[in-house]
Amino acid sequence: MPSSSKISPIPADSRSSSASASAASTHTDTNARLSQIQQHTMGSISNRPVELFDAVPQAPEDPLFGLMAAYRKDTHEKKVDLGIGAYRDNNAKPWVLPVVKKADKILRDDPDLNHEYLPIAGLPEFTLAAQKLILGPDSPAIKEGRATSLQTISGTGAVHLGGLFLSRFLPKPTPAIYLSNPTWANHNQIFTNIGMPIKSYPYFSAKTKMLDLDGLLSTLKAAPEKSIVLLHACAHNPTGVDPTQDQWKQIAEVCRERSLFPFFDCAYQGFASGDLATDNWAIRYFVEQGLELIIAQSFAKNFGLYGERAGAFHFVAAPGSKAQDVTKRVASQLAVLQRSEISNPPAYGARIASIVLNDKALFAEWEEDLRTMSGRIIEMRKSLKAELDKLDTPGNWDHITSQIGMFSFTGISEAQVLAIREKWHVYMTKNGRISMAGLNTSNVKYVAEALDDVVRHVK
Ligand SMILES: Cc1ncc(COP(=O)(O)O)c(C=O)c1O
Repeated sequence: MPSSSKISPIPADSRSSSASASAASTHTDTNARLSQIQQHTMGSISNRPVELFDAVPQAPEDPLFGLMAAYRKDTHEKKVDLGIGAYRDNNAKPWVLPVVKKADKILRDDPDLNHEYLPIAGLPEFTLAAQKLILGPDSPAIKEGRATSLQTISGTGAVHLGGLFLSRFLPKPTPAIYLSNPTWANHNQIFTNIGMPIKSYPYFSAKTKMLDLDGLLSTLKAAPEKSIVLLHACAHNPTGVDPTQDQWKQIAEVCRERSLFPFFDCAYQGFASGDLATDNWAIRYFVEQGLELIIAQSFAKNFGLYGERAGAFHFVAAPGSKAQDVTKRVASQLAVLQRSEISNPPAYGARIASIVLNDKALFAEWEEDLRTMSGRIIEMRKSLKAELDKLDTPGNWDHITSQIGMFSFTGISEAQVLAIREKWHVYMTKNGRISMAGLNTSNVKYVAEALDDVVRHVK
């Protein structure tokens, strides 16, 4: 550091003190001071610190959030948002579940409510209830003490924690994680950020608009042992195509044969069919088969707690004499990772979910709310299909009703997606995925007309 940069601090009272000093000495002092400052400034210019981030490129806007912004700006009175990954009621409004309103009141009326930190692993009554919900109350893994759970920043946080855990504790070089093609876009980003090698397995057949089971199985059969396979537990995002129970059995069999490690992402339990156990059949089956696995669980969609970031991460050890010990050690390491990442999770959403999950009557009301949401979506699928049938829109649209959950892959081209936005103000992601939650009895006919138009006139 140049000596010129070592300037003494200007006394706080320097201006007022000038009144008592002689004019000449004040002048000299000021000049010296100015020259000192000038040298300091020049010195710092010639030794400017390296600008480390000069070369940081502009990142592209997140496509989904960009789409939402474009929709908000659009002033057309008939605009329709089919990009949104959140439930909307029949008036296109966000829906606070009635049971969540009740739980919120119980929470706020609690005289003991405070804002202390939660434990590192989260609210115990929440994580235990979440574990029972996902594995089933009679799960052998719970009975045998070989499941451990941590509260996370919703499903995204759970996927991230899972990735971090795998990359830290798998033998090196870290095996690849196989993602379905296509998958939720954030999967790629999360595992890339962690530095895990990513591969993909075929999932969606553009021709049949159904599961490409042969492609999926043959890719997994060829995967190196100990590879990770990320599986959407239900309501596959973005395709809306789920394996049947028989197909799940085949996938579980390959995982066992090839010693592949299943990583379930469960963001829509109860939201797809309206039945919690049906939507979780695959996870429970894999556990019954004695497979060791991990699960990322989100309460964003099924509780409508999107912004409250309530979720959980679960590890289930394979049965055996070492299982409890392994589970304990894994739990201790997960706590270390959690501490360094977020210290401890946010309380509000977990408290709401916990109140509902641990109360029989509220739980039953929640199941009713789930049926309301999934039922409306299933109705919208039927209406859209019926409108397209009425218009005799070219192509086969059976997939609209055979797909499940919030999303549907329409199969329209990118040019058609752009045209439907330009001309009809109907917004969807570039890959032609639509959110069924954006449809309602007032706009479904309009959307069918829009689809019919672009399918007929744009290639
Ligand atoms: C497949 C899948 N996984 C995880 C998530 C995570 O959602 P959140 O972090 O809001 O719980 C989503 C949300 O859209 C999803 O579709």
